Amino acid sequence: MLTLSSVHAGYGSFPALFDVSLEVRQGEAVGVIGPNGAGKTTLMRVVSGLLRPSGGTIVMEGVDLARTASHRIVELGIAHVPESRRLFPRMTVEDNLKMGGFTPAARPGFRQRLAVVYELFPRLAERREQLAGSMSGGEQQMCAIGRALMSEPKLLLLDEPSAGLAPVIVEQLFELVKRLRAGGLTVLIVEQNVQQVLRVVDRAYVLKTGRIRAAGAAAELLASGTIRDAYLGV
Ligand SMILES: Nc1ncnc2c1ncn2[C@@H]1O[C@H](COP(=O)(O)OP(=O)(O)OP(=O)(O)O)[C@@H](O)[C@H]1O
Ligand SMILES: [Mg+2]
Repeated sequence: MLTLSSVHAGYGSFPALFDVSLEVRQGEAVGVIGPNGAGKTTLMRVVSGLLRPSGGTIVMEGVDLARTASHRIVELGIAHVPESRRLFPRMTVEDNLKMGGFTPAARPGFRQRLAVVYELFPRLAERREQLAGSMSGGEQQMCAIGRALMSEPKLLLLDEPSAGLAPVIVEQLFELVKRLRAGGLTVLIVEQNVQQVLRVVDRAYVLKTGRIRAAGAAAELLASGTIRDAYLGV
């Protein structure tokens, strides 16, 4: 579904990704793990078109995303839940959700889509009139994910969804990722919560200082010393 080949990207003259190749197949949940500053967010941003790669190709179902405007990338079925959630804090939950459903493709099924999101997140339905900025961290993360789902994506990009949340909420969040995947959604998730994310993804890549250092089935990575080595800098 999504293939990155030898992607290079950076900020001005600062290189943040070197020769990154990875693949996400239809129906898979794939993790990208790595320490702070590894380039995980940069990777998500090049996929969703917020940052242009300086080299390599990013192909989604035959379309080169490196040459596609970011609003078109949303229409191709990629939805990005950014690291800091980026909700509109002074808008209601429902208005935030609406903002995710404004692509031409999503507009006709908008009401139905909203119902699906509310079914998935009953808490958001209860709080539809509440200002997004006044909700708890976990509720805001649900709202950010709900908003992404409003565009009816094929591929969901989650950038550290568990960051800053209490352990019990983190567990619920990973359960949600499992359910979304079971429902047929393809997921690419960036996490620092390594042990937990490896229990919900099929495969993962270890990114460190902008390079892929290891890759494999989640269970193998969990069992091997690869992750520990990558974090310890061996
Ligand atoms: N806007 C920017 N301008 C300049 N450098 C940046 C910018 N954003 C990120 N970087 C640098 O690029 C590198 C990769 O950053 P990135 O945010 O992708 O890492 P990350 O793996 O997501 O880290 P974290 O786990 O802390 O979120 C870092 O060295 C960072 O300082
Ligand atoms: Mg990041």
